[in-house]
Amino acid sequence: MRPSLYIEDIFKNERQQSDAQTVAGKTVQLKGWVYNTRSSGKIKFLLLRDGTGILQCVLFPQNTAPEAMAIFDELTQECAIEVEGTLAAAPKSPGGWELQLKTMKLLSRAPDYPITPKEHGPAFLLDQRHLWIRSKMQHAILRIRSEVISATRQFFDDQGFVCFDAPIFTPNACEGTTNLFQVKYFEEQAFLTQSGQLYEEAGAMAFGKVYNFGPTFRAEKSKTRRHLTEFWMVEPEVAFMDLAGSMELAEDLMCHVVERVLKNRRPELVALERDITKLEAVKKPFPRLHYKEAAAILEKESKDNFKMGMDFGGGDETILASKFDRPVFVHGFPTAIKAFYMKEDPTDPTYTLSCDLLAPEGFGEIIGGGQREESIDVLMKKIGEHGLDPAVFNWYLDLRKYGSVPHAGFGMGVERCTAWICGTQHVRETIPFPRMLYRLTP
Ligand code: 4AD
Ligand code: MG
Repeated sequence: MRPSLYIEDIFKNERQQSDAQTVAGKTVQLKGWVYNTRSSGKIKFLLLRDGTGILQCVLFPQNTAPEAMAIFDELTQECAIEVEGTLAAAPKSPGGWELQLKTMKLLSRAPDYPITPKEHGPAFLLDQRHLWIRSKMQHAILRIRSEVISATRQFFDDQGFVCFDAPIFTPNACEGTTNLFQVKYFEEQAFLTQSGQLYEEAGAMAFGKVYNFGPTFRAEKSKTRRHLTEFWMVEPEVAFMDLAGSMELAEDLMCHVVERVLKNRRPELVALERDITKLEAVKKPFPRLHYKEAAAILEKESKDNFKMGMDFGGGDETILASKFDRPVFVHGFPTAIKAFYMKEDPTDPTYTLSCDLLAPEGFGEIIGGGQREESIDVLMKKIGEHGLDPAVFNWYLDLRKYGSVPHAGFGMGVERCTAWICGTQHVRETIPFPRMLYRLTP
């Protein structure tokens, strides 16, 4: 047994305006949960939530069975119910439809549901995350997240990329050693992955173009609104692609993702009161700034004492992004502040062929990537300089030994990207169950 009709289907059919599918006057059965109830004289209203949408149900004493009228008086928020009624156009109801109830069954009760329409603080809501996800805003954010993921996969699948999953347990540090999660189980030292990139490089040499879509772990010591300790990243890697190619790919991906959300998740964006014109402005080409140009701006405007050669702070990223109406690439970061695998710029080895994509409106870095070092000698030197254990990189160095070619890729943080598209200030709301320095439950 499974539901044959969802609230979303009702609205979808109506949007498509197909006569055969039009729902006015149809009798339908729905199952779901009570979102809200109210009475106006003898007429009673309830908002039914089934996970796909919210539909207003109306109980008129002359149409609705007396048992249903009696059940209504017992309903509390989040009681599970089954209803049957006739659909009618109702321009003032959510979605433009209402269900005139004939019958109703109470499937299960929900006494003292802790999240009420009144304001709650973030700590309380995070403790109630397993229930909070039923609320309208959280529901909209997580649906948009799902759309971002599906659009991303479609983008790569349609271009013939192979989905190539990297392992979660790994002996290799990829993004420095300061935020590694150690795992005690294996004989060797093991960590939770910080990035699938090194394995994607192996994949690119085997399949030409691959992507990893998986969880990523960073033992972040700081609490910021942009950092999770567990987040999801999509990491494409392409053989014979250079930095410029990598930026074009990232630009195409972002345009595709934003377009899909605008097409399929407009009601959610509206529920979040997102300024949609800001998303509609996301069109190619995105501006590209060399690090030196970005640094020159920040030396004048930074509020965090930025100096040429330093990495950007969150505030710095916001200043740079505020100059543009669409995402902006900063490329060519100094070698001294970048990971060991970054290819040095042949015209000036103190800079790398790296790039970050900064989201507009202060949402920070959503993509990081660039071209990889393809020379085995340079890599061996860098591994030493970064204090990494060369023994665990033997397999990685083989990729440079056997048919090494230029290649590039990037990582897009799913939650950062979702936070920007939703206009949500804190990434903790863009993942079903956030993991942060002080948050492991629920
Ligand atoms: O810039 P990062 O660290 O790049 C890498 O890990 C590369 N190895 C990726 C690659 O080239 N294949 O991370 C990539 C993106 C960031 O731009 C950001 O969107 C997200 O991952 N990210 C985080 N998101 C949430 N919480 C954190 N702590 C994050 N750290 C990075
Ligand atoms: Mg980065």
